[in-house]
Amino acid sequence: MYLGVIGYPIKHSVSPAMHNAALKRAGIEGIYLAFEVKPEMLEKAVAGAKALGFTGLNVTIPFKEEVVKFVRLEGHAAKLKAVNTVDLREMVGYNTDVYGAKASFSDVDVDGKVALVVGAGGAGKATSLALMELGATVILTNRTEHRGLEAVEMLRKYGECMFYPYTRVEELKGKIDILVNATPIGMRGFEQKLPVPEDILQPEMVVFDTVYNPLETPLIKKAKKMGCKVIYGIEMLIHQGAKAFEIWTGAKPDVNLMREAALEALKKQFITQP
Ligand SMILES: NC(=O)c1ccc[n+]([C@@H]2O[C@H](COP(=O)([O-])OP(=O)(O)OC[C@H]3O[C@@H](n4cnc5c(N)ncnc54)[C@H](OP(=O)(O)O)[C@@H]3O)[C@@H](O)[C@H]2O)c1
Repeated sequence: MYLGVIGYPIKHSVSPAMHNAALKRAGIEGIYLAFEVKPEMLEKAVAGAKALGFTGLNVTIPFKEEVVKFVRLEGHAAKLKAVNTVDLREMVGYNTDVYGAKASFSDVDVDGKVALVVGAGGAGKATSLALMELGATVILTNRTEHRGLEAVEMLRKYGECMFYPYTRVEELKGKIDILVNATPIGMRGFEQKLPVPEDILQPEMVVFDTVYNPLETPLIKKAKKMGCKVIYGIEMLIHQGAKAFEIWTGAKPDVNLMREAALEALKKQFITQP
């Protein structure tokens, strides 16, 4: 079975490590590879992978929205108009990021809670939809207001969701149960700071940082110090991968093994690229 991930850039992806470990453990003969695809080559890359007999592809930045033109959308992909997993046999697009975000909150009672989601890109929309489906009211904020408003317009069809201006989020102090960072702030190579004013953090909050490289972002470190429950971005990554694996192979992968493989791959990157 041939599987892969396409993106631009792609060299830091830990998906090959995660999926190849899962294939081996499941006794499935196959390989998962990463391909850097120039943005203008997306359609040819998808058609080429299908022609070569690939079973499926993960699709990452900057293709998640562009690829919807070439596939039939299922479930969450249809709701968000964004795809991260393609089944090339049927040309169906799925969004397993939503599943991954939901699974990340598996030991948190989200129902009836208020969540502040920072970021209106792919990760922001996926985590917002996940939290809304789990019963939370989502307050979405975004640096560029019109993008935030557009995201809320789409999301509010599926649950409670409203926009709050990014420059005024400190006004939400004391009103939030869950905080999600869905921006690249804290990611290796990006600004190392908190995505919201420090004052917002309260010990009883649950803090989820979708950034997983590094695992311990400034937000995670600060939240831990405050006594908040923290959820690591790697959980969403592993669970979106596990769901994609299930779609392609029909088998449930060993999630703990996928976690170990992803952590190992991240550690290697850290050693070779400080
Ligand atoms: N754990 C996982 O499985 C997983 C999956 C996907 C993504 N992620 C993480 O989520 C992050 C975002 O990914 P994405 O796919 O949503 O990217 P994206 O579609 O490019 O969206 C990025 C979002 O971050 C905001 N942003 C960027 N730089 C900012 C800054 N300096 N200050 C404030 N806001 C800023 C953008 O706001 P504007 O609209 O103003 O530009 C936008 O809302 C990634 O860096 C990645 O670490 C994790």
